[in-house]
Amino acid sequence: MKNLLTLIILIAIGFLIYIYTGVYNIAATVPHSKLTLWIFNTTMERSVKYHAKGIEAPRLDESLVQTGFNHYSEMCEGCHGKPGLSPSEMKTGFYPEPPDLTKGLEKWSPSELFWIIKNGIKMSAMPAFGPTHSEEELWAIVAFLGRLPDLSPEEYQAMEKTAQEKPGGHEHGHGQ
Ligand code: HEC
Repeated sequence: MKNLLTLIILIAIGFLIYIYTGVYNIAATVPHSKLTLWIFNTTMERSVKYHAKGIEAPRLDESLVQTGFNHYSEMCEGCHGKPGLSPSEMKTGFYPEPPDLTKGLEKWSPSELFWIIKNGIKMSAMPAFGPTHSEEELWAIVAFLGRLPDLSPEEYQAMEKTAQEKPGGHEHGHGQ
């Protein structure tokens, strides 16, 4: 018992020394170790799934897709890319790098996507859009994300054109 206590105290002191000396390299250019990556990714995934329980998705019909697009192209494209332009090609320098959302999001249900967009993700560049957007707008973005992996660069451009001609959906002009 006494030995165990000594060991715990030594580990705690070791941790404090590690933190205070500053030897840990916080640079975004130095990748995490496999263990840190596992801890971050697993915590993020389990947390989203836990907190999104009980959110009921409305019917996400086709009419929401263009509105969702208008929001996506204003606020998300700069980090998450679009058909024909992946985040790694954009070289944003973020770490973690924003995932390429054109690759499909099978991992997440619509309710989980809604939760992520509404609340954001700590210790990453992913912002919370809940404080600035209504639930209807957030669900429209989720509806668009469902279509995004199927869109060709040309189809995406066509939606950009529609957005210019009929800007509805993102008229409050605070783009990210
Ligand atoms: C400033 C950059 C930035 C902006 C703007 C941004 N995101 Fe993110 N997003 C991120 C980063 C970085 C992550 C990765 C977080 C992590 O893995 O911990 C992320 C993660 C996500 C995820 C989880 C994907 C996965 O497979 O794990 C979704 C979904 C998402 N963002 C949607 C959006 C949507 C929709 C918008 C616009 C309304 C948006 N993001 C705007 C940086 C951004």
